[in-house]
Amino acid sequence: MSEQVRIIEMGPRDGLQNEKTPVSMEARIRFIEALVGAGLHTVEVGAFVSPKAVPQMASSDRVLKGVSHITDAEFHVLVPNEKGYEAALIAGARVVSVFASASEGFSRANINCSVAESIERFKPVLARAGADGVKVRAYISCVLGCPFDGEVKPQAVAEVARTLWDLGCYEISLGDTIGVGTPLKAKQLLRAVGGTVPVASLAMHFHDTYGQALANLYAGMEEGVRVIDSAAGGLGGCPYAPGATGNVATEDVVYMLHGMGIRTGIDMEKLLAATNEMSRVLGRPPVSRVASALNAKAKRAAD
Ligand code: HMG
Ligand code: MG
Repeated sequence: MSEQVRIIEMGPRDGLQNEKTPVSMEARIRFIEALVGAGLHTVEVGAFVSPKAVPQMASSDRVLKGVSHITDAEFHVLVPNEKGYEAALIAGARVVSVFASASEGFSRANINCSVAESIERFKPVLARAGADGVKVRAYISCVLGCPFDGEVKPQAVAEVARTLWDLGCYEISLGDTIGVGTPLKAKQLLRAVGGTVPVASLAMHFHDTYGQALANLYAGMEEGVRVIDSAAGGLGGCPYAPGATGNVATEDVVYMLHGMGIRTGIDMEKLLAATNEMSRVLGRPPVSRVASALNAKAKRAAD
């Protein structure tokens, strides 16, 4: 597997969307600057969703404008519908991400509509984005289990993936929203979805709730997937997915990949500094195992 892997950094969006501690717009912008400085050139920076639903993502327009001076990075934002797309476009978005679910229960809880209705909401977004030259990425949530409906069949995910692909999404990110997957299930899922969408256009977005994310990522890499969503420090969680904790930590992914001789272009020291600064803002240590180990090592060296 001595190749390259593309990491999409989720910290400023998935990472902060469920945080109890308020994070100022300035701190969000500084976090993004530090992440790009560490070599993370694709960063999801916000969400154009209802501020009543997710107050943490309010002012995403100002955050996106606040990082517009950074020219060597691609910034993504979530949009659930045409209203969100309109606002994102005005704020300067060049890549937007729509988000569907493989299960009806989560779709209803998260975006207040059925899976089929969500696809209908995305159609005008895709049409306008095509005309505006804006790229559209897509998420599918609950690909390995749903907090409301339980088991989710790989075929159900494959069908939603095919629909989003046919609509023109350039990449489909598969979300284990509640982190319940295990490696063989991840493999079965990727085989099923890889039968309907090119594997090169799939991404893995695994939350680490049950500590399985790295193992699942490795299993997915064995199936040929080379795009990984992760969040600095292991931040994150969805307010509408009961019990879900953070995304797999970027530090943990980078440590594993570098150990396997796979290039990422990410500077671990600078990444750790970005994580530690956000950790200071939030007032608690990072959950990332690698960040904790490196911080402990630095402390031992300083003592
Ligand atoms: P709705 O109630 O069905 O929408 O919500 P509506 O069209 O009836 O509008 C209701 C209100 O929302 C109205 O305002 C609209 O103007 C407003 P009011 O009249 O009550 O003042 N509204 C909006 N405001 C701002 N931006 C918009 C927008 N659209 C409507 N785009 C809606 C539907 C999707 C808006 C709502 O349910 C919502 O915002 N949900 C939040 C979903 C969310 O952000 N979830 C977390 C991100 S997804 C995730 O974390 C999973 C992922 O990481 C992958 C994984 O891990 O699986 C991606
Ligand atoms: Mg997520």
